[in-house]
Amino acid sequence: MYNCRKLLPDLYWVGANDRRLALFENLFPIPRGVSYNAYLLLDEKTVLLDTVDHAVSRVFLENVEHLLNGRGLDYVIVNHMEPDHCATLQALLARWPEAQVLCTAKAVQMIGQFFGPALAAKAQSVAEGQTLCTGRHTLRFITAPMVHWPEVMVTFDEGDGVLFSADAFGSFGALDGHLFADELDFAGRFLPDARRYYANIVGKYGAQVAALLKKAAGLDIRAICPLHGPIWRKNLDWLLEKYQRWSQWQPEEQAVLVAYASMYGNTAEAAETLAGLLAEAGVQKIAVYDVSATDVSELVGEAFRCSHLVLAAPTYNGGVYPKMEELLAHLKAAGLQKRTVALLENGSWAPAAAKGMRAALEGMKEMALLENTVSIKSSLAEGQLPALKALADELAGTLAR
Ligand code: FEO
Repeated sequence: MYNCRKLLPDLYWVGANDRRLALFENLFPIPRGVSYNAYLLLDEKTVLLDTVDHAVSRVFLENVEHLLNGRGLDYVIVNHMEPDHCATLQALLARWPEAQVLCTAKAVQMIGQFFGPALAAKAQSVAEGQTLCTGRHTLRFITAPMVHWPEVMVTFDEGDGVLFSADAFGSFGALDGHLFADELDFAGRFLPDARRYYANIVGKYGAQVAALLKKAAGLDIRAICPLHGPIWRKNLDWLLEKYQRWSQWQPEEQAVLVAYASMYGNTAEAAETLAGLLAEAGVQKIAVYDVSATDVSELVGEAFRCSHLVLAAPTYNGGVYPKMEELLAHLKAAGLQKRTVALLENGSWAPAAAKGMRAALEGMKEMALLENTVSIKSSLAEGQLPALKALADELAGTLAR
């Protein structure tokens, strides 16, 4: 049964939600599900913008069939070739073989790689700035390489001011009936997932996102239709400001992320004590996480939000505890930079975690390490409380108020 929605006089959402998938990209937990958005423009010509993941192919194809209502499909615009958006392309073209596929030259190549030469032969490459007039609408193609794959482009409907933005401006989280961000509590319910999506999926490509934002600044955008999550038609400046910040790795808040690893609770106790001392020092926004109990994608998202990081870890096999090593590797992969970082280590006989964490951080750009590093032996000794307080005070002193 179809389940499509009208967005504008000629434009329809033909996507669907997946609430069964546990791991997006077989990697990121999505307890709130995800939406795969695709859009159908019914003009003098009929145009589908992207397809969907295999998981929701049935409702997607029924949506398209229902809305076409016997008309042919003239064009399929492929903005992004990652299979969560192109997996259904073959099935779609089997049903509407006359459709002309439009995409970048790199995407044509990828169509061949994913589906073989016969399907690639149906695709025609479009160039930067090229337009397609569909009757009442003119669509402009704008390349957006590495946001998030090299073949990506976005499509701009010049008349309605709608930007079909591919992965950009997307979010984890299925859509609960409402499609528009202004109809739901985006800042409360979606923002952590939108940030986590950005930081983990696109975070590394900040320069390329900034390049897209620069191109977008020249357009009269009145709505943003991403491939995942809510659609934007109000308060676009708020969303664009978030993207400006994230693309330059600027923190959103003056806040301290305390991420600790702990085998038997002793490093945890030191980290919790430090959090309390931070609160007593006047720090308002503190978020404490056990890296073994929190998915690393959440920690990466939080690191994009917070201006300050405290990393606390035991020494393990002469180096850094593996779960903390994993976090550091993910932060580096996401290109994190411009943070103030404090270190706390534990080591019962030869503490080496701080040295290892420092080495990892030195591989990232513009990370300011605090002078105070607290090193505990097995457990926090009462005599070390002044050192922990000094660290809290130094941290608090570097926070802007
Ligand atoms: Fe939602 Fe890069 O795919």
